[in-house]
Amino acid sequence: MGEITNVTEYQAIAKQKLPKMIYDYYASGAEDEWTLKENREAFSRILFRPRILIDVSKIDMTTSVLGFKISMPIMIAPSAMQKMAHPDGEYATARAASAAGTIMTLSSWATSSVEEVASTGPGIRFFQLYVYKDRKVVEQLVRRAERAGFKAIALTVDTPRLGRREADIKNRFVLPPYLTLKNFEGLDLGKMDQANDSGLASYVAGQIDRTLSWKDVKWLQSITSLPILVKGVITAEDARLAVHAGAAGIIVSNHGARQLDYVPATISALEEVVTAAQGRIPVYLDGGVRRGTDVFKALALGASGIFIGRPVVFALAAEGEAGVRNVLRMLREEFELTMALSGCTTLADINRSHILTEGDRLRPTPRL
Ligand code: FNR
Repeated sequence: MGEITNVTEYQAIAKQKLPKMIYDYYASGAEDEWTLKENREAFSRILFRPRILIDVSKIDMTTSVLGFKISMPIMIAPSAMQKMAHPDGEYATARAASAAGTIMTLSSWATSSVEEVASTGPGIRFFQLYVYKDRKVVEQLVRRAERAGFKAIALTVDTPRLGRREADIKNRFVLPPYLTLKNFEGLDLGKMDQANDSGLASYVAGQIDRTLSWKDVKWLQSITSLPILVKGVITAEDARLAVHAGAAGIIVSNHGARQLDYVPATISALEEVVTAAQGRIPVYLDGGVRRGTDVFKALALGASGIFIGRPVVFALAAEGEAGVRNVLRMLREEFELTMALSGCTTLADINRSHILTEGDRLRPTPRL
């Protein structure tokens, strides 16, 4: 293996190493995968307006998320079933996040339990929640996450049904029998049956609550005191509703383009959500972040931080914990360099005037 110089390079290695069914599950998006491509391409249409002759000998990338201090605004999104990528799975991700001084979000559908992940040592961790039809299951799980020291709930709101990921249908994707959805093991919901299409889609259809609505955000608040991040908002309308519902924050996400195809790239939807949130709650973004320049662009459009999904599972597949550490290191270094070359020494320095979007370019003069 030659030297890895950017996070995208892990994808090809993962493809070589992993069985096709597993690689395809990690890599694919919904249907035509238009949004999957667009999540990347939309970043490439945003250009910089760097400022010069500013002392950038010291760069501070630290920030706070829901009051928790982290080393950089780059965090780990929940991605399911990480032990399919590497035997250390979520343990490796937790350790790498902790070593980098940032936050890991553990998926409901992890192949390691909340307790197991907590046992890896100190670290600031969020728990991603899928709401099951059986609310007793949800209550138990939230309680366990609290007890295990998780600091917030990321409530995924874009998955009343699973998006149509055609590779999973063709491959008859199913969780390999040697693994379980560990958080649900004792509840008899930890296995995934083989189905005539995607085993995960069938699992979701059987277990996940399609009736989920804003009143359930209130319900969730009644069973936990943990702050709730609403993950999967991509419109101003829903951003306002999230603020009203008492969310602690919003994650602008299209689920890595795995749910509804032909939604805009998250970086294109970000600004309307930020505007609608009116600074009342922080707005985060995930989807297609692969470069430090992407992180900077998201912050310039008003995000308080970003999360990465696929780069983590691909790096896990390639090199386990070392791979995830390397991903976080490379993004950190690229982001730091972007700040320096744009004339920003703290995150507060990054603002809208540092970038030029397509919309801006249609206007006669740049917005200042
Ligand atoms: C995900 N995502 C996801 N989201 C969630 O809320 N719960 C989950 O269990 C999962 N699982 C999952 C598995 C895999 C393999 C992928 C690729 C994604 C979505 C994830 O949290 C995030 O929104 C996207 O992955 C971000 O986009 P990128 O960084 O993958 O482009």
